[in-house]
Amino acid sequence: VIRFGLAGLGRIGAVHARNVVAHANAELAAVFDPDAARAECIAERAGCSVAASFEAMLSDSSIDAVIIASPTSLHSEQAIAAARAGKAVLCEKPISLDLATAKACAGIVAEIGAPFMIALNKRFDPTIAELAARVKNGAIGRLEMISLFGKDPEPPPAAFIPTSGGIFRDMMIHDIDLSIFLCGELPAVVWATGAVHISDAFAQANDFDTAAVIMRTASGVIITQTLSRRTTFGFDQRIEVHGSEGMLRTGNHQVSRVEQLDRVGVVGSTFQHSFLERYAASYAVELDYFIACLETRRLIELDAQHAVVIQTIAEAVTDAAHSGSPRHLDIDPALSRP
Ligand SMILES: NC(=O)c1ccc[n+]([C@@H]2O[C@H](COP(=O)([O-])OP(=O)(O)OC[C@H]3O[C@@H](n4cnc5c(N)ncnc54)[C@H](O)[C@@H]3O)[C@@H](O)[C@H]2O)c1
Repeated sequence: VIRFGLAGLGRIGAVHARNVVAHANAELAAVFDPDAARAECIAERAGCSVAASFEAMLSDSSIDAVIIASPTSLHSEQAIAAARAGKAVLCEKPISLDLATAKACAGIVAEIGAPFMIALNKRFDPTIAELAARVKNGAIGRLEMISLFGKDPEPPPAAFIPTSGGIFRDMMIHDIDLSIFLCGELPAVVWATGAVHISDAFAQANDFDTAAVIMRTASGVIITQTLSRRTTFGFDQRIEVHGSEGMLRTGNHQVSRVEQLDRVGVVGSTFQHSFLERYAASYAVELDYFIACLETRRLIELDAQHAVVIQTIAEAVTDAAHSGSPRHLDIDPALSRP
């Protein structure tokens, strides 16, 4: 049984708490959040203790692994401290909004030799995993094109926008990982553009709320991605993968599968509203993968180096959108394990 400490009990931290408690080979030993009331509430439900501080949690030698679900600005220092304390680390994305800080953190964690995983959950979603397995088994022949649609139901709170790192570093990072997972290759060149249609808060933060990206790999696979901070119909997360022998696609997940057919037409339910519903299963599978890697000493594919590769691509996309010019990438494929 792996004993976990969990830092940060906000939206995603609460998900991790539930999943650790539910896992047969895991135990939630302690949680920490500066919001003491929140920590008490989750600890009571989970039946675990509340650590007095992050450092106090690290000094508990019975804890094997730490999940870092605190705000992004704290990830790198907390990951390094946890690795130094001999803990395995499951760190929420991204390591840092600053690429140099992310690289430095990855270097230190690797030097310490602590198991480290970046929490890029989408590839663990059962529907996406099945689609990827079919691509890899050659079901659609030679892969030629991937189209990803990523639209949030509503924009984040205005106060979050200037701290988000922008639509590509904040939102697209998951789909960059997904595209690498699906095609097994890194992009060699990226084009991007963006606009503001939803709120001036994005313009004030020098950000976009609506964007499109094209990436091309060395072998010629073309990946297109459209992004928006708003829909009127729920969380839009469609994928199409086109190959020489056919196409694989996954649509959005509806709240209910029931359709009403009458004189007006055919009416179904809305789509699941947010990542918390649509990707609920992925977070549990992600944790299961991390635990299996620790138990069997298997190599963690989503390591700190891979996190840096993903962030390097997000950086290039951001730069391409703001400059209006394509950006060429020359990332050593050995640094990433699709
Ligand atoms: N993988 C995903 O799908 C996904 C989804 C949402 C968020 N995230 C990432 O998870 C992180 C947290 O996001 P969120 O939406 O849960 O934020 P949130 O604001 O809901 O929660 C953050 C929590 O961290 C706590 N905190 C503040 N300082 C802390 C400290 N020193 N140590 C421990 N905890 C501290 C806050 O009190 C709060 O409870 C972000 O880095 C975000 O990018 C990932």
